Amino acid sequence: MAPTIYVMYGSATGNSQHIGTSLHASLQLSTPCVELNKWKDTKLASDAGEDGDGAKLFVVCSTTGNGDSPENAGRFIRFVKRKKNHEEGVKPFSKLQYAVLALGDTNYSEFCAAGRLIDKSLANCGGSRLMPIAKADEAVGLEEVVEAWIKEVTTSLACSEASCDNDSPISPEKTLSPPAHDPAVCDGIRIVKAVNPNYTDRVVPEDEIGTLVMTSSSNSLSSLNLPPPPPSDLALLSTSLKSANDSWTHTSSDSATNYTANKPFSSKITKARYLSGQVLEKLSLDAASVSKLTLEQKMEKLKGHGRRVLELEVTLPDDFSLEYSPGDSIGIIVSQSDASVSELIQRCGYGDEYTGNDGVKRSTRSSLAKLDVTRALKKRHLVGIADSATNTEERNCLRFLAGKKGSATFESFIAKHSVNLLDLLRLFPSVKPSLTLLLSLFTTVPPRYYSVTSSPLYHPHRVKFAFTVVDYEAVEGSGRRLGLATGMMEASVLGMLVGGEAAAATLEIFPKHSKEFRLPASSRFPLVLIGPGTGVAPFMGFVEHRKLARQERVKTTADSCAGMWRGGFELESGDIGVGSDDTTDFCSSEKAGPIHLFFGCRNEDDWIYRAEMEEMKAQGELTGLHVAFSRKEEGKKVYVQHRMKENSDQLVDLILKQDAYVFICGDGTSMGKDVMACLGDIIGEEKVELLKEKKKIVLDIWAG
Ligand SMILES: Cc1cc2nc3c(=O)[nH]c(=O)nc-3n(C[C@H](O)[C@H](O)[C@H](O)COP(=O)(O)OP(=O)(O)OC[C@H]3O[C@@H](n4cnc5c(N)ncnc54)[C@H](O)[C@@H]3O)c2cc1C
Ligand SMILES: Cc1cc2nc3c(=O)[nH]c(=O)nc-3n(C[C@H](O)[C@H](O)[C@H](O)COP(=O)(O)O)c2cc1C
Repeated sequence: MAPTIYVMYGSATGNSQHIGTSLHASLQLSTPCVELNKWKDTKLASDAGEDGDGAKLFVVCSTTGNGDSPENAGRFIRFVKRKKNHEEGVKPFSKLQYAVLALGDTNYSEFCAAGRLIDKSLANCGGSRLMPIAKADEAVGLEEVVEAWIKEVTTSLACSEASCDNDSPISPEKTLSPPAHDPAVCDGIRIVKAVNPNYTDRVVPEDEIGTLVMTSSSNSLSSLNLPPPPPSDLALLSTSLKSANDSWTHTSSDSATNYTANKPFSSKITKARYLSGQVLEKLSLDAASVSKLTLEQKMEKLKGHGRRVLELEVTLPDDFSLEYSPGDSIGIIVSQSDASVSELIQRCGYGDEYTGNDGVKRSTRSSLAKLDVTRALKKRHLVGIADSATNTEERNCLRFLAGKKGSATFESFIAKHSVNLLDLLRLFPSVKPSLTLLLSLFTTVPPRYYSVTSSPLYHPHRVKFAFTVVDYEAVEGSGRRLGLATGMMEASVLGMLVGGEAAAATLEIFPKHSKEFRLPASSRFPLVLIGPGTGVAPFMGFVEHRKLARQERVKTTADSCAGMWRGGFELESGDIGVGSDDTTDFCSSEKAGPIHLFFGCRNEDDWIYRAEMEEMKAQGELTGLHVAFSRKEEGKKVYVQHRMKENSDQLVDLILKQDAYVFICGDGTSMGKDVMACLGDIIGEEKVELLKEKKKIVLDIWAG
């Protein structure tokens, strides 16, 4: 009997899920496509076990946190890496052939760690590789590696089924009819021609478009239970319906907390303040006039007021079910604004309601509000949408952008300017995607995360976080655009900011715990905290926590220092303080290790938490405050790395002699790399690698 084929994924923000379900759809498998944790819901174990008929497993898995596996893959990974498999020669998957596609980002030190671990562990479980692990790097774009992997998978399967030779085409090339002449050139085509003078509106054959983008995910579609989309040249959408999974917010299966992305807590915003930016002075609004504005009008008023950082304080449940530690983040559920949804409905002519497969009527508005349509379009969106252009030139142009030959143009037009669905609909007027198509192409808006800036000791039922308001002009002349979450949050607290409202809107929140970004249990370890911009947020919580813990002489000292502290850092025997009376130093100010904070901003106006930092320094909570200004002096850009270099000797002493913990946090992929390179110069690259392994150098870098 031929081995049964399975596709499974582990995904934190939906990419692997999309790729997995797309591959699964294109293969038209009868087995379900599941998240790795649900592997026991399938017959993989019996098929791939010693007495089975054999199985082929294709795994797509990303890495999250600092080399962690996504929550929906954790249980599977724990199973395959069980020591028993290595030590006792247990081979649960002796009849398994497999291939792993790992998604990652080379800006993180543990590149594709989860995928690599699965690949290695499946071999230890008796599996044999169909092909070497493929590692797709988000830093340079996932597409190339993903498409090549999918092609290899489909080729290998087609060949094993039909014993064809390797050069045979998998699917016959389709011939499209040549474009009809249309003198009206839309703005979209004009931009493409300007970006790429060699562009000609030739017909783009499907093999130039790529496998990944030809098979669209239907996450949202299935969860919304819509009828399958109509057949089209490119869309293999209908096949993916069979396998579709719940939206990514349903993927969390390991969470021990009560509140999750699926079940968030309705939190009230209790305080709001600008940490930088002179918006209020420029707006000169009073409470009465703000109270008359809609959310959209407030957003319009706030646009274009320069770089600004806001801090919010929000409520937590009274029952401590949303407990957190410094270093954790909170997740916020966001949805599209009413204005975007209305524009979409109007532009595409959708009705108020649609009927799902189950005959249930649903609101178009609420379904569209959940779709991630304000994010920059990916190639897979373009290929799906291209067929809905009634004008052939527009259609060919979109196919070109989605195809391999259009990659450079795609980068310098769509990706660089964050062109989203609404932009595309304005630029290509003949495009009119059906509601079914949109719901199948776009996934649910992912939550936004924010590092907590407060200590749980500050207030048991409140948490604070800070964020930079995203405010930019994507394409020159197209007007400014606010970030979906940060724009909405800023507008919703405008009344509070001008002093008119005591409490503002609610936010749907849930915790995101960090395993490694944790204060060491003993306060005697020195800390080196490196956080430019809002990257300093968790460090405000770290320093505040140490201060409050000492002030309050927390009762939990003995417990916390003996092992875990508020679910926190685990001490190993051999670590300083473990097994000696040093562990009780937690509350002792004399023995607390020094804390050095490296902070970077553009100039003094941009210096968030300045008063707090200076007070911490004056009170001795901070031993060293090293601030770098990148735009204070004309032509002299000073970054945190420069300050680190200036303090090289001290850093060598702190890290190598005094056993300091180094935490690096912030937005921007190059910052993490540059800081790590600088640490390498200061203490040596080998030491950096070693300390990273020991979790004494920990990074938390996010892409803004
Ligand atoms: C674990 C974690 C912790 C985080 N902690 C924090 C934190 O403490 N503080 C914080 O501020 N953020 C933090 N972030 C980032 C945060 O979650 C959001 O990504 C950020 O606030 C943007 O959200 P938004 O919805 O407002 O913007 P979005 O609507 O998502 O818009 C952002 C997008 O706009 C586009 N864009 C922005 N500027 C331009 C430009 N000039 N030209 C073209 N396109 C542009 C880019 O495509 C960018 O991806 C964290 C992220 C993670 C993963
Ligand atoms: C918070 C966060 C942490 C990440 N950590 C890592 C990491 O440690 N190593 C890595 O290779 N990639 C890391 N990445 C990159 C993701 O693996 C990459 O963006 C991938 O495309 C996400 O796929 P997913 O949507 O299926 O989770 C991280 C991404 C985020 C947002």
